Amino acid sequence: MIPYGRHSINDDDIAAVVLALKSEWLTTGPLVEEFESALEKVVGAPCISVTSGTAALHCAYAAIGLKPGDEVITPPITFVATQATAALFGAKIVFADIQPDTANIDPQAAEAAITSRTRAIVAVDYAGHPAELDDLRTIADRHGIYLIEDAAHSIGSFYKGRPVGSIADITTFSFFPTKNLTTGEGGAVASIHPELLERAKRFSRQGLVRNPNEFKITDQGPWHQEVHEFGLNYRLPDILCALGVNQLRRLEDFKIKKQAIFESYVCELNGIKGIELPTERFDMNVNWHLFPARFDPIKRQAIFSGLRKAGIGVQVNYIPAYWHPVFSKFGLRKGMYPISDLFYSQEISLPMYSELTTDEIDFVVRNIKALI
Ligand SMILES: Cc1ncc(COP(=O)(O)O)c(C=O)c1O
Repeated sequence: MIPYGRHSINDDDIAAVVLALKSEWLTTGPLVEEFESALEKVVGAPCISVTSGTAALHCAYAAIGLKPGDEVITPPITFVATQATAALFGAKIVFADIQPDTANIDPQAAEAAITSRTRAIVAVDYAGHPAELDDLRTIADRHGIYLIEDAAHSIGSFYKGRPVGSIADITTFSFFPTKNLTTGEGGAVASIHPELLERAKRFSRQGLVRNPNEFKITDQGPWHQEVHEFGLNYRLPDILCALGVNQLRRLEDFKIKKQAIFESYVCELNGIKGIELPTERFDMNVNWHLFPARFDPIKRQAIFSGLRKAGIGVQVNYIPAYWHPVFSKFGLRKGMYPISDLFYSQEISLPMYSELTTDEIDFVVRNIKALI
C-alpha cells in the first residue's frame, strides 16, 4: 500500500538516537535544549518541546489561562484535537467557516463570531498552507484576544516571508510520523511572548516552580520545589529530541522534495474535468503536508474506494469537527458550516511524502484518471 503520508528515517537519524540511548540522559538532558534551540532557528520564536501536537495545544490553552465559560473560535476542517484540548478546560467551542480554496479559517467569519467571552481565535494551517495570519492578527489585536496557530501541518512554511511560528501569539506543532518531520510522537509550542511560553513550559513540566524568588514556602532546603497551578508531564525525552535534531536538519530537503511532488501532481492533473487541485496563495511558501484534491461529491466515495483497492492508501482530512457526536449536546448540527461541509464532501488526500517516487506518482495519477 502506498500511504497518504509517511516518515523518512535515514542512518543519521538512527545514529543520533543510538547515541542518545548510550548517553547519561534518556530524558530531561541536554538534547532537549538542543532540539528546542534548533526549533527556534526554524520557526523564528523560542520553543518548548512536548510529547505530541495535542499536548502542545493543551499547553497553549493552559498558557492563556483558558477557563470555563471562555470561548475559542476554531475552523471545522481540522483534527478534533484543536477543539478537544480547549473543551477540557471547560471552554465553549465556537466554529467559524473556512475559505474555500485553502480550507483555512475565514477571518471575516472568525471576526463575526467574536463575543465578549472570546479569548482566542485558533487558526489551523490546513495541509501546510498558512492561514491568513495578518488579517487574523489585526482582528485579534482589535478585540484584545489571542491568536493561536495550530501549525501541526506547517512547520517549515512561510507566510509573506515570515516563518510559521513567528506571527501568532502561540504556535503549536506536531511531529507525528505523517507530519513534516517526526520524533515518533512529539510536538512543540512556540511563542513570541516569553511569559506565555514560560506558562506553557510550567504546565508541561508538572506545574513545578523551581525559582526560589517565586517560592511561597520559604523555610525549606535546597531540594525544595512547589506547585502553584496544576500541570502535567508532557516532557519529550532526549531519545526523541535526538531524532528531532537530525530531522530538523533534513526539513528543507523534505520540503523541496514535496514541492516537486506537488508540481508533478499539478502538471499531470491540472485542467482535468472533475478534479480541483490545491493552490498556493500569493506570497506563501508552503511545506506541503497533504495534497488535498477535490472531486465531485457524488463520485468521491467510489474514487476513494477505487484508489484504496489499487493499493493507494488515500485518506480524507477531515470530517468537519463539529459533526463529531460529542458536539451534538451543544446544538451543533450538520449543515451549519456549508463551506466546510462541501470541502469535506469533495476531499481526498493523495499520497504526499518526501520518499514518494516518480513511478508511484505516475501510478496514482493513472488510477485517478481511470476512476474519474
Ligand atoms: C491540525 C492538527 N492539530 C493537532 C493534531 C494533533 O497532533 P498529535 O497527533 O501529534 O497529537 C493533529 C494531528 O493529526 C492535526 O492534524
